Amino acid sequence: MRDRINSLMQELDTFHPATPAEVEEFRIRILGKKGILTALFEEFKSIDPAEKREFGKQLNLIKNKALETINAQKERLAFRGSKKQTTEDLTKPADILNTGSRHPISIVRREILDIFRKMGFTVQEGPEIEDDWHVFSALNFPADHPARDMQDTFFINNGSDNPVLLRTHTSSVQVRTMEKQKPPIRVVCPGRVFRNEAISARAHCIFHQVEGLYIDGNVSFADLKQAILLFVREMFGSSAKIRLRPSYFPFTEPSAEVDVNCNICGGTGCNICKNTGWLEIMGAGMVDPNVLEASGIDSKKYTGYAFGMGVERIAMLKWQVKDLRLYFENDVRFLEQFEGGLL
Ligand code: DAH
Repeated sequence: MRDRINSLMQELDTFHPATPAEVEEFRIRILGKKGILTALFEEFKSIDPAEKREFGKQLNLIKNKALETINAQKERLAFRGSKKQTTEDLTKPADILNTGSRHPISIVRREILDIFRKMGFTVQEGPEIEDDWHVFSALNFPADHPARDMQDTFFINNGSDNPVLLRTHTSSVQVRTMEKQKPPIRVVCPGRVFRNEAISARAHCIFHQVEGLYIDGNVSFADLKQAILLFVREMFGSSAKIRLRPSYFPFTEPSAEVDVNCNICGGTGCNICKNTGWLEIMGAGMVDPNVLEASGIDSKKYTGYAFGMGVERIAMLKWQVKDLRLYFENDVRFLEQFEGGLL
């Protein structure tokens, strides 16, 4: 028995099959009903009890080794087989890589910036976590002025004289630009803004704005109107029209709200334009002299205009997506519908 165990051990050590069929044949020869090891176990039942301890141990050892060897060889051949398949057919088309597409908000943001770049504006960005000075005080919002309530703010630290908060508009970047640059200044400032509002189809606590600012020696309201008209015609087509309505913002005087003619109903009235034929797209106005002075610009020497628009709103007009929440859910079925090509 000892000899047969030793020779089986040797066979296991040197077993190197070339095919899975060889492994199966080997398994049957060793472990099958009439296999070598099965016979040895049968024989074991009737050996001298004094020898049982030694042979019992050895038989169990060799049985485990046989199972391990068979499994290891099976795996080795399966792996080699799979490698063979993928390397063999070099004419097989490659797997398609899913690269995704640009987000619709990124597409519109880029379009807006490109139009203003052509008019000589440069792009400025600023921090999303801001202080009260840059979001409110420097923009002529007096301390307890109700205009601060127009923009429900997420405060991070409301304790100090200059609280820290999430910016409610990108007008804060106007201030930062005026603080560090001398006129002429001609910038557009894109970015995310945050307001403490309940999320619905028409409102969201996060959205995107593009702010514009032009300051120079002799900037007039006519310049503002012309720049907006050029922008709207580039964005919505050469027949687009604008309408300015008087409005109020603490940082501009005079202030206006700008409407564009509704391209969804063509002016006949629909539920998007609330049957008026016009859609509001931005706020604008002449920079209030107090705002220029707060940032160290001489309001006797310089004048300027500013405007601010919501990117989601422009995107909605472009593609008639009526529910703002879709822009933030990132459902691939929604995102892949927009042009803009691959990343
Ligand atoms: N900051 C305003 C808002 O978030 C938008 C705005 C209005 C910006 C008038 C301007 C402006 O620069 O002149 O509602």
